[in-house]
Amino acid sequence: MKLKLHLAPMEGVTDFVMRDLLTKIGGIDHCVTEFLRVTNQLLPESVFYKNCPELLTQSKTKAGTPVFLQLLGGQAEPLAENAARAASLGVAGIDLNFGCPAKTVNRHDGGATLLKSSDRIFNIVATVRKNVPPNIPVTAKIRLGFDTPSVCIENAQAAEAGGAQWLTVHCRTKTDGYKPPAYWEWIPKIKGHVKIPIVANGEIWAISDFKRCYEVTKCEDYMIGRGALRDPFLFQNIKGLTQNKNPQELLCGFYDACVTYSSPEFATARTKQWLNQLRINDESTQNIFDQVKILKKPIEFKQKLEQLLSHG
Ligand SMILES: Cc1cc2nc3c(=O)[nH]c(=O)nc-3n(C[C@H](O)[C@H](O)[C@H](O)COP(=O)(O)O)c2cc1C
Repeated sequence: MKLKLHLAPMEGVTDFVMRDLLTKIGGIDHCVTEFLRVTNQLLPESVFYKNCPELLTQSKTKAGTPVFLQLLGGQAEPLAENAARAASLGVAGIDLNFGCPAKTVNRHDGGATLLKSSDRIFNIVATVRKNVPPNIPVTAKIRLGFDTPSVCIENAQAAEAGGAQWLTVHCRTKTDGYKPPAYWEWIPKIKGHVKIPIVANGEIWAISDFKRCYEVTKCEDYMIGRGALRDPFLFQNIKGLTQNKNPQELLCGFYDACVTYSSPEFATARTKQWLNQLRINDESTQNIFDQVKILKKPIEFKQKLEQLLSHG
């Protein structure tokens, strides 16, 4: 089996800095940007570069991992126009989001709402496919359904018929939110009805979850989101390329990269956010988190973090 691991798009989490850090650790074959929301307009180039700075480096992270840009919206024409713009800027591929559960997004007719209509999924994928050069892959990401998984086969077929090169399935409905479990058992049913590769997604936190997911789905492709934050070495470990360092060693570098990308305030918020995940797997990180979480000023936060890490 040729195992391929994808880093999940996570708005407000797997940005340029996190993609860079995680792909440098290794084990990741493919990334997708956080979603870029499209209403009825062509977005300015600066928005594409902000969402996907990798456009400046052949749409690859510094480690050489390809990055697809994800678009979210309900109108086929503007999505296609923006996809074509991304293609002209050198994007490696376009991923279409049909799974976002956020209320504001759904109210504006984007994300998971589209799971209610396979015709609309088909139309969006086909229109985008038609408007980007044939060498640029167009892919789609769905949930099992809006409030029932019974539509997942029809929706997968619609994405395939529209020309999606592969399909990522987050194995829950919109109504399920992020509540465990993920219903991996739907993947073999979908695979029985489409020919394109299916990327299995949802609730892979550890090697043991990956093994169970493999037993159920027998996929070659897996996407991991939140698990990557709790254990940045998970992808490597799944591939048997164990190189376990202490994730704490990555924190100061991560903070500095966030400052370069944005600002000290951003770096403080993002480092706290990551510590909040890392602490779940590790008691000493819990201790660091407890001591820095109340520090609001970036300079105090960074000093304390460095002090705690040097005593670790
Ligand atoms: C904070 C957060 C932000 C997310 N943002 C996106 C997004 O921008 N696009 C998308 O397709 N999915 C998004 N997702 C869903 C993830 O890509 C993934 O499908 C989901 O987290 C399940 O995988 P996991 O159990 O490995 O985390 C997001 C999830 C989280 C938790």
